[in-house]
Amino acid sequence: MTLPRTPLATAALVLLSLSAAACGQANDTPWTAPELRLILSLSPPPALAYSAGNRFADDDRAARLGQKLFFDKGLSRSGQIACATCHEPARFFTDGRARAKGVAETNRNAPTVMGTQNLPFVFHDGRKDSLWAQALGPLESDAEHAFDRTAAARHLAASYRTEYEAIFGSLPSQAEIAALPAQARPRPLDSTHPQARAWAAMAEPQRSAVTRAFVNIGKAIEAYERKLLPRPAPFDAYASALRRGDADAARMLDAPARQGLRAFIGAGGCVNCHNGPLLTDMAFHNLGLPPAAGVIGVDGGRSVGADQVRRDEFRCGTQWSDATPTAGACQELHYLNPQFEDFLGAFRTPTLRNVARTGPYMHAGQFATLAEVVGFYQTLPGRAQVGHRDLTLQRLPGSVQAQDLVAFLESLTGPLPEPRWLDPGG
Ligand code: HEC
Ligand code: HEC
Repeated sequence: MTLPRTPLATAALVLLSLSAAACGQANDTPWTAPELRLILSLSPPPALAYSAGNRFADDDRAARLGQKLFFDKGLSRSGQIACATCHEPARFFTDGRARAKGVAETNRNAPTVMGTQNLPFVFHDGRKDSLWAQALGPLESDAEHAFDRTAAARHLAASYRTEYEAIFGSLPSQAEIAALPAQARPRPLDSTHPQARAWAAMAEPQRSAVTRAFVNIGKAIEAYERKLLPRPAPFDAYASALRRGDADAARMLDAPARQGLRAFIGAGGCVNCHNGPLLTDMAFHNLGLPPAAGVIGVDGGRSVGADQVRRDEFRCGTQWSDATPTAGACQELHYLNPQFEDFLGAFRTPTLRNVARTGPYMHAGQFATLAEVVGFYQTLPGRAQVGHRDLTLQRLPGSVQAQDLVAFLESLTGPLPEPRWLDPGG
């Protein structure tokens, strides 16, 4: 039987839920001043940081071009793969798979793009130091777009010449494009590959013009990705009410989520790593996760990523970056030591914003649900496959209810970005 929606019944429901909220609040221990400071430090979602390496980062024309490129399957060898294949807007820019699949299956889980805008290092192992340099990785990855940069320059010239030139200046002419080899790109680890040979055979000005166009694909995509910041969630409404000193703040977040928050910033120790408005310390830790089913070999994580980013063709300080080469530039890279023992098997702490919508979880999709993730923190089974488990990680005390932590994590889901950024544009 369904309840008749009379004004009286509605009023009764409102009364019921009001008293439930009031009752929940009465049972709560009030937050101490240090707890309150911690809670407020997690909210609201961050404003955009300056992108030093990309002078087109906040150019709206670049963002609109980047949006088209993000959804364009023409940027893949098979014509079947776009960024959006693995970063679907409706899934908060993830793919719902344990491990992503492009042309082939990769050994990593596709993280959300929302909330990566301010990170000093991207990818689970931080092997790129900007979003524009990141975007160039999957394009030339054999398992993902399996594309190459001469094909990318040709595609830009055929489909986007006018828009591109209005933003970035001239592309190679029709004749220059026609003279490019079919598939060419550098392959530092495989110089005998036909694509690497074709690349080596090109004249330096030709290589440079093609790479410039390729780099600008990344810069346009970054400008688009900057429109995809996470938006305020129920937890933020609660934090904002606490900030105003609203006596009724508890109506913004139900009792289990408030209990979960208490564990998150207290006994659970989660906030040691998941802190700040993105709920990540942006650092790398080895949790000693179980191996993912079907993945062969061990993943060195940050120790490999730190080495790769220092040698990256597009890192801060190269001719492709717009960062001014001042004394303080590229500091993040200078202080990076790939030999650092704790980097072995470590992965970046992910943002927890919208986490209820971005499963499966962890760098290789080891867990399907948030309940499984919390179950892992409760028991910390086994030992690290490589390196050692982060020494600060402790089993959750028995007093912490798993479902409360899950309720808190669910309260971090905000709306998707504005609808105009969720489709191929045009
Ligand atoms: C085949 C699926 C696939 C495609 C296609 C793909 N990605 Fe990804 N993306 C992934 C996976 C998997 C990772 C994590 C890889 C890793 O850490 O090694 C990732 C990581 C990222 C990250 C870093 C997120 C973070 O938290 O550090 C961004 C940003 C991103 N992708 C954007 C893009 C863009 C832009 C494109 C298109 C040019 C693209 N992706 C194409 C699967 C894909
Ligand atoms: C020592 C630092 C540290 C602590 C403490 C910690 N985490 Fe994490 N968390 C991480 C790292 C690092 C990852 C990613 C690990 C990986 O992929 O290998 C992660 C992953 C997660 C994920 C999966 C997110 C995703 O998108 O895949 C969730 C959910 C999570 N943590 C919640 C929690 C909760 C709840 C607590 C407290 C009980 C907690 N974490 C404590 C560092 C930490």
